[in-house]
Amino acid sequence: MVVFQVARVETTPLDGQKPGTSGLRKKVKVFTQPHYLHNFVQSTFYALGADKVRGATLVVSGDGRYYSKDAIQIIIKMAAANGVRRIWVGQNGLLSTPAVSAVIRDRVGHDGSKANGGFILTASHNPGGPHEDFGIKYNMENGGPAPESVTDKIYENTKTIKEYLIAEGLPDVDISTVGVSSFTGPEGQFDVDVFDSTTDYVKLMKSIFDFESIRKLLSSPNFTFCYDALHGVAGVYAKRIFVEELGAEESSLLNCVPKEDFGGGHPDPNLTYAKELVARMGLGKTNNESEPPEFGAAADGDADRNMILGKRFFVTPSDSVAIIAANAVEAIPYFSSGLKGVARSMPTSAALDVVAKHLNLKFFEVPTGWKFFGNLMDAGMCSVCGEESFGTGSDHIREKDGIWAVLAWLSILAYKNKDNLGGGKLVTVEDIVRQHWSVYGRHYYTRYDYENVDAGGAKDLMAHLVKLQSSLGEVNEIIKGLRSDVSNVACADEFEYKDPVDGSISKHQGIRYLFEDGSRLVFRLSGTGSEGATIRVYIEQYEKDSSKTGRDSQEALAPLVEVAIKLSKMEAFTGRSAPTVIT
Ligand code: G6P
Ligand code: ZN
Repeated sequence: MVVFQVARVETTPLDGQKPGTSGLRKKVKVFTQPHYLHNFVQSTFYALGADKVRGATLVVSGDGRYYSKDAIQIIIKMAAANGVRRIWVGQNGLLSTPAVSAVIRDRVGHDGSKANGGFILTASHNPGGPHEDFGIKYNMENGGPAPESVTDKIYENTKTIKEYLIAEGLPDVDISTVGVSSFTGPEGQFDVDVFDSTTDYVKLMKSIFDFESIRKLLSSPNFTFCYDALHGVAGVYAKRIFVEELGAEESSLLNCVPKEDFGGGHPDPNLTYAKELVARMGLGKTNNESEPPEFGAAADGDADRNMILGKRFFVTPSDSVAIIAANAVEAIPYFSSGLKGVARSMPTSAALDVVAKHLNLKFFEVPTGWKFFGNLMDAGMCSVCGEESFGTGSDHIREKDGIWAVLAWLSILAYKNKDNLGGGKLVTVEDIVRQHWSVYGRHYYTRYDYENVDAGGAKDLMAHLVKLQSSLGEVNEIIKGLRSDVSNVACADEFEYKDPVDGSISKHQGIRYLFEDGSRLVFRLSGTGSEGATIRVYIEQYEKDSSKTGRDSQEALAPLVEVAIKLSKMEAFTGRSAPTVIT
Protein backbone atom coordinates (compact mmCIF):
# COMPACT_ATOMS: atom_id res chain seq x y z
CA MET A 1 0.00 0.00 0.00
CA VAL A 2 1.28 3.48 -0.85
CA VAL A 3 2.38 5.34 2.26
CA PHE A 4 1.96 9.11 2.52
CA GLN A 5 3.27 11.74 4.93
CA VAL A 6 1.64 14.92 6.17
CA ALA A 7 3.18 18.21 5.07
CA ARG A 8 2.36 21.45 6.87
CA VAL A 9 2.43 24.26 4.35
CA GLU A 10 2.72 27.86 5.45
CA THR A 11 0.11 30.21 4.05
CA THR A 12 -1.36 33.67 4.61
CA PRO A 13 -5.00 34.78 4.57
CA LEU A 14 -6.49 35.69 1.19
CA ASP A 15 -9.24 38.25 0.83
CA GLY A 16 -12.82 37.65 -0.10
CA GLN A 17 -13.39 34.07 1.04
CA LYS A 18 -16.78 34.73 2.62
CA PRO A 19 -19.16 32.01 1.43
CA GLY A 20 -22.42 33.40 -0.05
CA THR A 21 -25.89 31.80 -0.04
CA SER A 22 -24.50 28.75 -1.78
CA GLY A 23 -20.83 28.54 -0.94
CA LEU A 24 -17.80 30.32 -2.32
CA ARG A 25 -18.12 31.30 -5.99
CA LYS A 26 -15.37 33.11 -7.84
CA LYS A 27 -13.73 33.23 -11.23
CA VAL A 28 -11.49 30.25 -11.97
CA LYS A 29 -8.54 32.66 -12.06
CA VAL A 30 -9.20 33.56 -8.45
CA PHE A 31 -9.48 29.90 -7.40
CA THR A 32 -6.22 28.94 -9.13
CA GLN A 33 -4.15 31.50 -7.22
CA PRO A 34 -1.59 29.77 -5.00
CA HIS A 35 -3.17 28.46 -1.75
CA TYR A 36 -6.64 29.88 -2.56
CA LEU A 37 -8.58 26.61 -2.61
CA HIS A 38 -6.27 25.13 0.05
CA ASN A 39 -6.98 27.96 2.48
CA PHE A 40 -10.72 27.55 2.08
CA VAL A 41 -10.68 23.77 2.49
CA GLN A 42 -8.42 23.91 5.55
CA SER A 43 -10.62 26.65 7.03
CA THR A 44 -13.59 24.35 6.53
CA PHE A 45 -11.83 21.48 8.30
CA TYR A 46 -10.97 23.82 11.19
CA ALA A 47 -14.58 25.02 11.32
CA LEU A 48 -15.86 21.46 11.54
CA GLY A 49 -13.35 20.65 14.27
CA ALA A 50 -10.69 17.92 14.38
CA ASP A 51 -12.99 15.46 16.15
CA LYS A 52 -15.51 15.69 13.27
CA VAL A 53 -12.84 15.48 10.58
CA ARG A 54 -10.67 12.65 11.93
CA GLY A 55 -12.04 9.31 10.81
CA ALA A 56 -14.77 10.98 8.75
CA THR A 57 -16.24 9.84 5.45
CA LEU A 58 -16.64 12.79 3.08
CA VAL A 59 -18.10 13.10 -0.41
CA VAL A 60 -16.26 15.25 -2.97
CA SER A 61 -17.78 15.82 -6.42
CA GLY A 62 -19.71 18.30 -8.47
CA ASP A 63 -21.06 19.42 -11.80
CA GLY A 64 -17.81 18.71 -13.66
CA ARG A 65 -17.03 22.33 -14.50
CA TYR A 66 -13.52 23.48 -15.41
CA TYR A 67 -11.00 23.08 -12.54
CA SER A 68 -13.13 20.39 -10.80
CA LYS A 69 -10.70 17.57 -11.52
CA ASP A 70 -7.72 19.47 -10.11
CA ALA A 71 -9.75 20.61 -7.12
CA ILE A 72 -10.83 17.03 -6.34
CA GLN A 73 -7.21 15.84 -6.23
CA ILE A 74 -6.24 18.72 -3.95
CA ILE A 75 -9.17 18.06 -1.60
CA ILE A 76 -8.39 14.32 -1.49
CA LYS A 77 -4.80 15.07 -0.44
CA MET A 78 -5.84 17.64 2.15
CA ALA A 79 -8.52 15.35 3.56
CA ALA A 80 -5.99 12.54 3.89
CA ALA A 81 -3.59 14.84 5.71
CA ASN A 82 -6.32 16.02 8.07
CA GLY A 83 -7.10 12.46 9.14
CA VAL A 84 -10.25 11.85 7.07
CA ARG A 85 -10.80 8.10 6.76
CA ARG A 86 -12.62 7.88 3.40
CA ILE A 87 -13.35 10.09 0.44
CA TRP A 88 -16.25 9.17 -1.81
CA VAL A 89 -16.08 10.45 -5.38
CA GLY A 90 -18.73 10.08 -8.09
CA GLN A 91 -17.22 8.61 -11.25
CA ASN A 92 -15.31 11.31 -13.16
CA GLY A 93 -15.97 13.62 -10.23
CA LEU A 94 -19.59 14.00 -11.29
CA LEU A 95 -22.48 14.18 -8.87
CA SER A 96 -25.40 16.55 -9.14
CA THR A 97 -26.05 18.70 -6.08
CA PRO A 98 -29.22 16.71 -5.26
CA ALA A 99 -27.27 13.46 -5.75
CA VAL A 100 -24.62 14.60 -3.26
CA SER A 101 -27.40 15.30 -0.79
CA ALA A 102 -28.87 11.84 -1.43
CA VAL A 103 -25.48 10.14 -1.18
CA ILE A 104 -24.68 11.84 2.13
CA ARG A 105 -28.04 10.82 3.55
CA ASP A 106 -28.50 7.34 2.14
CA ARG A 107 -25.42 5.70 0.62
CA VAL A 108 -23.80 2.85 2.50
CA GLY A 109 -20.18 2.17 1.57
CA HIS A 110 -18.82 -1.30 0.71
CA ASP A 111 -17.52 -1.51 4.30
CA GLY A 112 -20.80 -0.34 5.84
CA SER A 113 -19.63 3.27 6.19
CA LYS A 114 -21.93 6.32 6.03
CA ALA A 115 -20.96 9.83 4.99
CA ASN A 116 -20.56 12.70 7.45
CA GLY A 117 -20.75 15.46 4.88
CA GLY A 118 -19.26 16.58 1.61
CA PHE A 119 -17.81 19.22 -0.64
CA ILE A 120 -19.87 20.13 -3.69
CA LEU A 121 -17.85 21.66 -6.50
CA THR A 122 -20.15 23.88 -8.51
CA ALA A 123 -21.10 27.45 -9.27
CA SER A 124 -24.59 26.21 -10.09
CA HIS A 125 -26.04 28.09 -13.07
CA ASN A 126 -23.03 30.36 -13.64
CA PRO A 127 -21.00 29.70 -16.80
CA GLY A 128 -17.86 27.56 -16.57
CA GLY A 129 -14.48 27.46 -18.25
CA PRO A 130 -11.02 28.98 -17.70
CA HIS A 131 -12.45 32.52 -17.70
CA GLU A 132 -15.69 31.77 -15.90
CA ASP A 133 -16.79 30.63 -12.45
CA PHE A 134 -15.85 27.86 -10.08
CA GLY A 135 -17.40 27.20 -6.70
CA ILE A 136 -17.24 25.08 -3.58
CA LYS A 137 -19.65 24.53 -0.73
CA TYR A 138 -19.84 22.22 2.22
CA ASN A 139 -22.90 20.13 3.06
CA MET A 140 -23.54 18.63 6.48
CA GLU A 141 -24.59 15.20 7.67
CA ASN A 142 -28.28 15.88 6.92
CA GLY A 143 -27.33 16.41 3.26
CA GLY A 144 -28.03 20.14 3.40
CA PRO A 145 -25.76 23.18 3.02
CA ALA A 146 -23.73 24.18 6.07
CA PRO A 147 -25.68 26.61 8.27
CA GLU A 148 -24.49 30.17 8.76
CA SER A 149 -22.92 29.28 12.12
CA VAL A 150 -20.51 27.02 10.21
CA THR A 151 -19.94 29.23 7.15
CA ASP A 152 -19.24 32.18 9.48
CA LYS A 153 -16.59 30.10 11.23
CA ILE A 154 -15.09 29.11 7.89
CA TYR A 155 -14.87 32.76 6.92
CA GLU A 156 -13.29 33.72 10.25
CA ASN A 157 -10.71 30.98 9.77
CA THR A 158 -9.85 32.19 6.27
CA LYS A 159 -8.90 35.53 7.84
CA THR A 160 -6.38 34.06 10.29
CA ILE A 161 -5.11 30.93 8.57
CA LYS A 162 -1.35 30.31 8.87
CA GLU A 163 -0.89 26.80 7.50
CA TYR A 164 -2.68 23.92 5.84
CA LEU A 165 -2.09 20.18 5.83
CA ILE A 166 -1.60 18.18 2.66
CA ALA A 167 -0.54 14.60 1.99
CA GLU A 168 2.87 14.14 0.47
CA GLY A 169 3.57 11.01 -1.52
CA LEU A 170 -0.11 10.39 -2.22
CA PRO A 171 -0.48 10.01 -5.98
CA ASP A 172 -3.38 11.48 -7.97
CA VAL A 173 -6.25 9.02 -7.78
CA ASP A 174 -7.87 7.74 -10.98
CA ILE A 175 -11.42 9.05 -10.61
CA SER A 176 -12.56 7.77 -14.00
CA THR A 177 -12.79 4.15 -12.87
CA VAL A 178 -15.17 2.79 -10.25
CA GLY A 179 -13.35 1.11 -7.36
CA VAL A 180 -11.62 1.66 -4.03
CA SER A 181 -7.98 2.74 -3.70
CA SER A 182 -6.37 2.41 -0.28
CA PHE A 183 -3.39 4.23 1.14
CA THR A 184 -1.64 4.43 4.49
CA GLY A 185 -0.90 7.63 6.38
CA PRO A 186 0.30 8.51 9.86
CA GLU A 187 -3.20 7.83 11.23
CA GLY A 188 -3.76 4.54 9.40
CA GLN A 189 -5.73 3.59 6.32
CA PHE A 190 -7.20 6.14 3.92
CA ASP A 191 -9.58 5.08 1.13
CA VAL A 192 -10.80 6.79 -2.00
CA ASP A 193 -14.02 5.14 -3.17
CA VAL A 194 -15.01 6.03 -6.73
CA PHE A 195 -18.60 4.98 -7.37
CA ASP A 196 -21.27 5.20 -10.07
CA SER A 197 -22.77 8.71 -10.05
CA THR A 198 -26.35 7.60 -10.62
CA THR A 199 -27.02 4.36 -8.69
CA ASP A 200 -27.90 5.82 -5.29
CA TYR A 201 -29.92 8.67 -6.74
CA VAL A 202 -31.90 6.36 -9.03
CA LYS A 203 -32.67 4.09 -6.11
CA LEU A 204 -34.04 7.07 -4.20
CA MET A 205 -36.17 8.25 -7.14
CA LYS A 206 -37.61 4.74 -7.52
CA SER A 207 -38.64 4.79 -3.87
CA ILE A 208 -40.55 8.06 -4.43
CA PHE A 209 -42.20 7.73 -7.83
CA ASP A 210 -44.14 5.02 -9.65
CA PHE A 211 -41.65 4.43 -12.47
CA GLU A 212 -43.98 1.95 -14.17
CA SER A 213 -46.72 4.54 -14.68
CA ILE A 214 -44.21 7.10 -15.97
CA ARG A 215 -42.76 4.49 -18.32
CA LYS A 216 -46.26 3.89 -19.73
CA LEU A 217 -46.69 7.61 -20.31
CA LEU A 218 -43.33 8.00 -22.03
CA SER A 219 -43.95 5.02 -24.30
CA SER A 220 -47.44 6.15 -25.25
CA PRO A 221 -47.54 7.18 -28.95
CA ASN A 222 -49.44 10.40 -28.19
CA PHE A 223 -46.90 11.64 -25.61
CA THR A 224 -43.63 13.28 -26.63
CA PHE A 225 -40.83 14.39 -24.36
CA CYS A 226 -37.68 16.49 -24.43
CA TYR A 227 -34.98 17.25 -21.82
CA ASP A 228 -32.16 19.78 -22.01
CA ALA A 229 -29.26 19.45 -19.55
CA LEU A 230 -27.48 22.53 -20.99
CA HIS A 231 -24.29 20.41 -20.90
CA GLY A 232 -24.44 20.23 -17.11
CA VAL A 233 -24.28 17.18 -14.89
CA ALA A 234 -28.03 16.52 -15.28
CA GLY A 235 -27.20 14.83 -18.59
CA VAL A 236 -25.75 11.84 -16.74
CA TYR A 237 -28.96 11.38 -14.77
CA ALA A 238 -31.23 12.12 -17.71
CA LYS A 239 -29.68 9.39 -19.78
CA ARG A 240 -29.90 6.85 -17.01
CA ILE A 241 -33.38 7.74 -15.77
CA PHE A 242 -35.34 9.00 -18.76
CA VAL A 243 -33.78 6.77 -21.42
CA GLU A 244 -32.57 3.62 -19.66
CA GLU A 245 -35.13 3.36 -16.86
CA LEU A 246 -38.18 5.00 -18.39
CA GLY A 247 -37.78 4.23 -22.08
CA ALA A 248 -37.61 7.76 -23.54
CA GLU A 249 -35.92 8.04 -26.96
CA GLU A 250 -32.24 9.03 -26.97
CA SER A 251 -33.22 11.79 -29.39
CA SER A 252 -35.35 13.39 -26.69
CA LEU A 253 -32.17 14.43 -24.85
CA LEU A 254 -30.59 17.79 -25.73
CA ASN A 255 -27.10 18.82 -24.57
CA CYS A 256 -26.88 15.86 -22.24
CA VAL A 257 -23.11 15.36 -22.46
CA PRO A 258 -21.54 17.21 -19.51
CA LYS A 259 -18.87 19.68 -20.57
CA GLU A 260 -16.33 21.63 -18.52
CA ASP A 261 -17.50 24.88 -20.10
CA PHE A 262 -21.15 23.90 -20.65
CA GLY A 263 -20.50 24.21 -24.36
CA GLY A 264 -19.82 27.93 -23.88
CA GLY A 265 -23.40 28.48 -22.71
CA HIS A 266 -25.01 29.82 -19.60
CA PRO A 267 -26.34 26.70 -17.83
CA ASP A 268 -29.42 28.33 -16.37
CA PRO A 269 -32.82 26.86 -17.22
CA ASN A 270 -34.93 29.84 -18.12
CA LEU A 271 -36.55 31.24 -21.25
CA THR A 272 -33.46 33.31 -22.07
CA TYR A 273 -30.68 30.76 -21.71
CA ALA A 274 -32.31 27.42 -22.59
CA LYS A 275 -32.62 28.60 -26.19
CA GLU A 276 -32.59 25.27 -27.96
CA LEU A 277 -35.26 23.76 -25.76
CA VAL A 278 -37.38 26.90 -25.92
CA ALA A 279 -37.30 26.76 -29.73
CA ARG A 280 -38.05 23.05 -29.81
CA MET A 281 -41.04 23.61 -27.55
CA GLY A 282 -42.42 26.14 -30.02
CA LEU A 283 -41.93 29.13 -27.72
CA GLY A 284 -40.43 32.44 -28.68
CA LYS A 285 -39.31 33.18 -32.20
CA THR A 286 -39.05 29.94 -34.09
CA ASN A 287 -39.20 28.57 -37.61
CA ASN A 288 -39.77 25.19 -36.16
CA GLU A 289 -41.96 23.28 -38.56
CA SER A 290 -42.16 20.03 -36.67
CA GLU A 291 -44.77 19.65 -33.95
CA PRO A 292 -43.24 20.51 -30.53
CA PRO A 293 -43.13 17.81 -27.83
CA GLU A 294 -45.89 17.64 -25.22
CA PHE A 295 -43.43 18.10 -22.39
CA GLY A 296 -40.03 19.75 -22.09
CA ALA A 297 -37.72 20.49 -19.20
CA ALA A 298 -34.25 21.80 -18.51
CA ALA A 299 -31.74 21.86 -15.66
CA ASP A 300 -28.91 24.10 -14.54
CA GLY A 301 -25.22 23.13 -14.31
CA ASP A 302 -25.50 21.15 -11.07
CA ALA A 303 -29.04 19.90 -11.78
CA ASP A 304 -30.80 21.33 -8.78
CA ARG A 305 -32.86 23.82 -10.80
CA ASN A 306 -35.58 23.00 -13.29
CA MET A 307 -37.72 24.67 -15.90
CA ILE A 308 -40.98 22.96 -16.92
CA LEU A 309 -42.56 23.59 -20.32
CA GLY A 310 -45.55 22.29 -22.17
CA LYS A 311 -46.08 22.52 -25.89
CA ARG A 312 -45.81 26.27 -26.63
CA PHE A 313 -46.36 26.85 -22.93
CA PHE A 314 -44.22 28.05 -20.00
CA VAL A 315 -44.98 26.98 -16.44
CA THR A 316 -43.75 29.57 -13.95
CA PRO A 317 -41.75 28.03 -11.11
CA SER A 318 -44.23 29.57 -8.66
CA ASP A 319 -47.12 27.80 -10.38
CA SER A 320 -45.11 24.61 -10.69
CA VAL A 321 -44.64 24.11 -6.95
CA ALA A 322 -48.29 24.96 -6.31
CA ILE A 323 -49.45 22.42 -8.89
CA ILE A 324 -47.12 19.72 -7.58
CA ALA A 325 -48.41 20.35 -4.05
CA ALA A 326 -52.02 20.23 -5.21
CA ASN A 327 -51.55 16.87 -6.96
CA ALA A 328 -48.84 15.18 -4.89
CA VAL A 329 -51.01 12.94 -2.76
CA GLU A 330 -52.84 11.36 -5.73
CA ALA A 331 -49.98 11.25 -8.20
CA ILE A 332 -46.81 10.52 -6.20
CA PRO A 333 -46.61 7.41 -3.99
CA TYR A 334 -44.09 9.02 -1.57
CA PHE A 335 -46.77 11.54 -0.56
CA SER A 336 -49.75 9.16 -0.51
CA SER A 337 -50.27 9.56 3.22
CA GLY A 338 -50.42 13.34 2.97
CA LEU A 339 -48.16 16.39 3.05
CA LYS A 340 -46.59 17.52 6.33
CA GLY A 341 -46.62 21.11 5.13
CA VAL A 342 -45.55 23.29 2.21
CA ALA A 343 -43.25 26.28 1.92
CA ARG A 344 -42.08 28.91 -0.52
CA SER A 345 -39.50 31.68 -0.51
CA MET A 346 -40.81 35.19 0.06
CA PRO A 347 -40.47 36.47 -3.54
CA THR A 348 -42.16 33.34 -4.93
CA SER A 349 -45.77 34.01 -5.90
CA ALA A 350 -48.60 33.22 -3.51
CA ALA A 351 -49.98 30.44 -5.73
CA LEU A 352 -48.80 27.90 -3.16
CA ASP A 353 -50.52 29.82 -0.33
CA VAL A 354 -53.89 29.34 -2.00
CA VAL A 355 -53.33 25.59 -2.38
CA ALA A 356 -52.22 25.35 1.25
CA LYS A 357 -55.37 27.14 2.35
CA HIS A 358 -57.69 24.96 0.23
CA LEU A 359 -56.04 21.75 1.36
CA ASN A 360 -55.62 22.91 4.94
CA LEU A 361 -51.86 22.41 4.93
CA LYS A 362 -49.22 23.96 7.16
CA PHE A 363 -47.62 26.78 5.21
CA PHE A 364 -44.35 28.71 5.58
CA GLU A 365 -42.92 31.77 3.84
CA VAL A 366 -39.14 31.82 4.21
CA PRO A 367 -36.32 34.07 2.96
CA THR A 368 -34.61 33.25 -0.32
CA GLY A 369 -32.21 30.32 0.03
CA TRP A 370 -32.82 26.60 0.29
CA LYS A 371 -31.31 26.26 3.76
CA PHE A 372 -34.46 27.72 5.32
CA PHE A 373 -36.52 24.82 3.97
CA GLY A 374 -33.98 22.34 5.34
CA ASN A 375 -34.70 23.35 8.95
CA LEU A 376 -38.45 22.88 8.44
CA MET A 377 -37.89 19.52 6.80
CA ASP A 378 -35.55 18.25 9.52
CA ALA A 379 -38.32 19.12 11.98
CA GLY A 380 -40.91 17.19 9.95
CA MET A 381 -42.90 20.33 9.11
CA CYS A 382 -42.57 20.51 5.34
CA SER A 383 -42.89 18.03 2.48
CA VAL A 384 -42.92 20.15 -0.70
CA CYS A 385 -41.32 23.52 -1.32
CA GLY A 386 -40.21 25.79 -4.09
CA GLU A 387 -38.75 29.08 -5.19
CA GLU A 388 -39.38 31.42 -8.08
CA SER A 389 -35.71 30.96 -9.03
CA PHE A 390 -36.50 27.64 -10.73
CA GLY A 391 -35.99 25.53 -7.63
CA THR A 392 -38.47 22.87 -6.53
CA GLY A 393 -38.05 19.98 -4.15
CA SER A 394 -39.18 17.89 -1.23
CA ASP A 395 -37.96 16.40 2.01
CA HIS A 396 -36.42 13.38 0.27
CA ILE A 397 -33.13 15.35 0.40
CA ARG A 398 -31.98 18.76 1.65
CA GLU A 399 -31.35 20.46 -1.70
CA LYS A 400 -33.69 21.43 -4.50
CA ASP A 401 -33.88 18.77 -7.14
CA GLY A 402 -34.21 19.36 -10.89
CA ILE A 403 -34.77 15.75 -11.96
CA TRP A 404 -37.21 15.19 -9.09
CA ALA A 405 -39.30 18.11 -10.34
CA VAL A 406 -39.48 16.58 -13.81
CA LEU A 407 -40.45 13.19 -12.39
CA ALA A 408 -43.12 14.93 -10.29
CA TRP A 409 -44.60 16.55 -13.40
CA LEU A 410 -44.42 13.30 -15.37
CA SER A 411 -46.19 11.57 -12.47
CA ILE A 412 -48.97 14.15 -12.54
CA LEU A 413 -49.29 13.79 -16.32
CA ALA A 414 -49.30 9.99 -16.00
CA TYR A 415 -51.97 10.16 -13.32
CA LYS A 416 -54.23 12.56 -15.23
CA ASN A 417 -53.83 10.52 -18.41
CA LYS A 418 -54.10 7.04 -17.08
CA ASP A 419 -57.15 6.41 -19.25
CA ASN A 420 -55.88 8.29 -22.32
CA LEU A 421 -52.67 6.46 -23.10
CA GLY A 422 -52.23 4.56 -26.32
CA GLY A 423 -53.93 7.21 -28.46
CA GLY A 424 -56.60 9.88 -28.33
CA LYS A 425 -56.52 13.25 -26.65
CA LEU A 426 -54.15 13.82 -23.76
CA VAL A 427 -54.52 16.13 -20.81
CA THR A 428 -51.58 18.44 -21.57
CA VAL A 429 -49.28 20.48 -19.36
CA GLU A 430 -51.20 23.57 -20.43
CA ASP A 431 -54.54 21.91 -19.55
CA ILE A 432 -53.25 21.06 -16.09
CA VAL A 433 -52.08 24.63 -15.45
CA ARG A 434 -55.25 26.25 -16.80
CA GLN A 435 -57.40 23.91 -14.81
CA HIS A 436 -55.38 24.77 -11.72
CA TRP A 437 -55.96 28.48 -12.33
CA SER A 438 -59.68 27.90 -12.74
CA VAL A 439 -59.85 26.30 -9.30
CA TYR A 440 -57.33 28.39 -7.35
CA GLY A 441 -57.10 31.61 -9.34
CA ARG A 442 -54.00 32.79 -11.14
CA HIS A 443 -50.97 34.69 -9.88
CA TYR A 444 -49.67 36.64 -12.85
CA TYR A 445 -45.96 36.82 -12.21
CA THR A 446 -42.78 38.18 -13.72
CA ARG A 447 -39.26 38.95 -12.58
CA TYR A 448 -37.04 41.72 -13.92
CA ASP A 449 -33.31 41.29 -13.35
CA TYR A 450 -30.82 44.15 -13.63
CA GLU A 451 -27.50 42.31 -13.70
CA ASN A 452 -24.04 43.61 -12.90
CA VAL A 453 -25.15 47.13 -12.01
CA ASP A 454 -22.96 49.44 -9.98
CA ALA A 455 -23.03 48.20 -6.36
CA GLY A 456 -23.35 51.73 -4.95
CA GLY A 457 -26.30 52.57 -7.18
CA ALA A 458 -28.04 49.34 -6.23
CA LYS A 459 -27.59 50.06 -2.53
CA ASP A 460 -28.95 53.58 -2.94
CA LEU A 461 -31.99 52.29 -4.81
CA MET A 462 -32.76 49.89 -1.98
CA ALA A 463 -32.26 52.62 0.63
CA HIS A 464 -34.63 54.84 -1.33
CA LEU A 465 -37.29 52.12 -1.33
CA VAL A 466 -36.93 51.52 2.40
CA LYS A 467 -37.28 55.21 3.11
CA LEU A 468 -40.33 55.48 0.86
CA GLN A 469 -42.04 52.81 2.94
CA SER A 470 -42.39 55.17 5.87
CA SER A 471 -44.77 57.39 3.90
CA LEU A 472 -47.38 55.23 2.22
CA GLY A 473 -49.45 58.35 1.54
CA GLU A 474 -46.70 59.62 -0.70
CA VAL A 475 -46.35 56.21 -2.35
CA ASN A 476 -50.04 56.10 -3.18
CA GLU A 477 -49.90 59.66 -4.53
CA ILE A 478 -47.08 58.62 -6.87
CA ILE A 479 -49.02 55.56 -8.02
CA LYS A 480 -52.20 57.56 -8.58
CA GLY A 481 -50.20 59.95 -10.75
CA LEU A 482 -48.87 57.05 -12.82
CA ARG A 483 -51.76 54.62 -13.30
CA SER A 484 -55.37 54.66 -12.31
CA ASP A 485 -55.62 50.90 -12.88
CA VAL A 486 -53.26 49.96 -10.03
CA SER A 487 -54.67 49.64 -6.53
CA ASN A 488 -53.31 51.29 -3.40
CA VAL A 489 -50.42 49.96 -1.38
CA ALA A 490 -51.88 48.70 1.87
CA CYS A 491 -48.61 48.03 3.67
CA ALA A 492 -44.92 47.78 3.06
CA ASP A 493 -41.96 46.38 4.95
CA GLU A 494 -38.56 44.77 4.83
CA PHE A 495 -39.09 41.03 5.09
CA GLU A 496 -37.85 39.49 8.30
CA TYR A 497 -38.07 35.81 9.23
CA LYS A 498 -38.05 34.08 12.54
CA ASP A 499 -37.21 30.43 12.02
CA PRO A 500 -39.93 28.46 13.82
CA VAL A 501 -37.49 25.63 14.51
CA ASP A 502 -34.37 27.30 15.93
CA GLY A 503 -35.77 30.76 16.62
CA SER A 504 -33.05 32.47 14.59
CA ILE A 505 -33.96 35.78 12.98
CA SER A 506 -33.01 36.80 9.42
CA LYS A 507 -33.40 40.49 8.67
CA HIS A 508 -33.31 42.59 5.49
CA GLN A 509 -34.57 39.80 3.26
CA GLY A 510 -36.14 42.02 0.63
CA ILE A 511 -38.42 45.02 0.38
CA ARG A 512 -42.13 44.37 -0.03
CA TYR A 513 -44.96 46.57 -1.20
CA LEU A 514 -48.28 44.81 -0.62
CA PHE A 515 -51.29 46.17 -2.51
CA GLU A 516 -54.93 46.23 -1.46
CA ASP A 517 -55.93 43.82 -4.25
CA GLY A 518 -53.32 41.22 -3.27
CA SER A 519 -50.72 42.36 -5.79
CA ARG A 520 -47.10 42.53 -4.62
CA LEU A 521 -43.91 44.27 -5.60
CA VAL A 522 -40.72 42.85 -4.15
CA PHE A 523 -37.20 44.24 -4.52
CA ARG A 524 -34.09 42.27 -3.59
CA LEU A 525 -30.38 42.27 -4.22
CA SER A 526 -29.17 38.92 -5.53
CA GLY A 527 -26.96 36.91 -3.22
CA THR A 528 -25.41 34.79 -5.95
CA GLY A 529 -23.87 37.17 -8.49
CA SER A 530 -20.11 37.25 -8.86
CA GLU A 531 -19.73 40.77 -10.34
CA GLY A 532 -21.26 44.10 -9.29
CA ALA A 533 -24.80 43.88 -7.94
CA THR A 534 -27.93 42.33 -9.39
CA ILE A 535 -31.26 43.93 -8.58
CA ARG A 536 -34.30 41.69 -8.83
CA VAL A 537 -37.80 43.07 -9.09
CA TYR A 538 -40.64 40.59 -8.57
CA ILE A 539 -44.04 41.62 -9.82
CA GLU A 540 -47.20 39.73 -8.97
CA GLN A 541 -50.93 40.17 -9.37
CA TYR A 542 -53.67 37.81 -8.23
CA GLU A 543 -56.71 37.15 -10.41
CA LYS A 544 -59.47 35.09 -8.87
CA ASP A 545 -62.06 35.47 -11.62
CA SER A 546 -61.62 32.36 -13.78
CA SER A 547 -62.83 34.25 -16.86
CA LYS A 548 -59.78 36.51 -16.55
CA THR A 549 -57.01 34.01 -15.91
CA GLY A 550 -56.11 33.44 -19.55
CA ARG A 551 -54.41 36.75 -20.36
CA ASP A 552 -50.86 37.22 -21.57
CA SER A 553 -48.78 37.67 -18.46
CA GLN A 554 -46.56 40.59 -19.55
CA GLU A 555 -49.64 42.43 -20.78
CA ALA A 556 -51.59 41.83 -17.58
CA LEU A 557 -48.65 43.00 -15.49
CA ALA A 558 -47.71 46.06 -17.54
CA PRO A 559 -49.31 48.60 -15.18
CA LEU A 560 -47.61 47.16 -12.11
CA VAL A 561 -44.29 46.93 -13.93
CA GLU A 562 -44.48 50.61 -14.75
CA VAL A 563 -45.19 51.43 -11.12
CA ALA A 564 -42.28 49.25 -9.95
CA ILE A 565 -39.76 50.90 -12.24
CA LYS A 566 -40.87 54.46 -11.54
CA LEU A 567 -41.35 53.99 -7.80
CA SER A 568 -37.82 52.62 -7.48
CA LYS A 569 -36.34 55.28 -9.79
CA MET A 570 -34.58 52.41 -11.49
CA GLU A 571 -33.11 54.41 -14.33
CA ALA A 572 -31.90 57.25 -12.12
CA PHE A 573 -30.11 54.93 -9.71
CA THR A 574 -28.70 52.39 -12.18
CA GLY A 575 -28.63 54.09 -15.56
CA ARG A 576 -30.55 51.12 -16.95
CA SER A 577 -33.56 51.73 -19.13
CA ALA A 578 -34.30 48.01 -19.46
CA PRO A 579 -33.66 44.84 -17.46
CA THR A 580 -31.00 42.31 -18.49
CA VAL A 581 -33.34 39.33 -18.21
CA ILE A 582 -37.10 39.03 -17.87
CA THR A 583 -38.56 35.75 -16.66
C1 G6P B 1 -29.42 29.82 -5.16
C2 G6P B 1 -30.07 29.17 -4.01
C3 G6P B 1 -31.56 29.36 -4.09
C4 G6P B 1 -31.90 30.81 -4.22
C5 G6P B 1 -31.13 31.46 -5.30
C6 G6P B 1 -31.33 32.93 -5.17
O1 G6P B 1 -29.81 29.21 -6.34
O2 G6P B 1 -29.79 27.80 -3.99
O3 G6P B 1 -32.16 28.80 -2.97
O4 G6P B 1 -33.25 30.97 -4.51
O5 G6P B 1 -29.77 31.17 -5.17
O6 G6P B 1 -30.46 33.60 -5.97
P1 G6P B 1 -30.37 35.17 -5.94
O7 G6P B 1 -29.39 35.43 -7.02
O8 G6P B 1 -31.75 35.67 -6.24
O9 G6P B 1 -29.90 35.55 -4.57
ZN1 ZN C 1 -27.83 24.96 -9.25
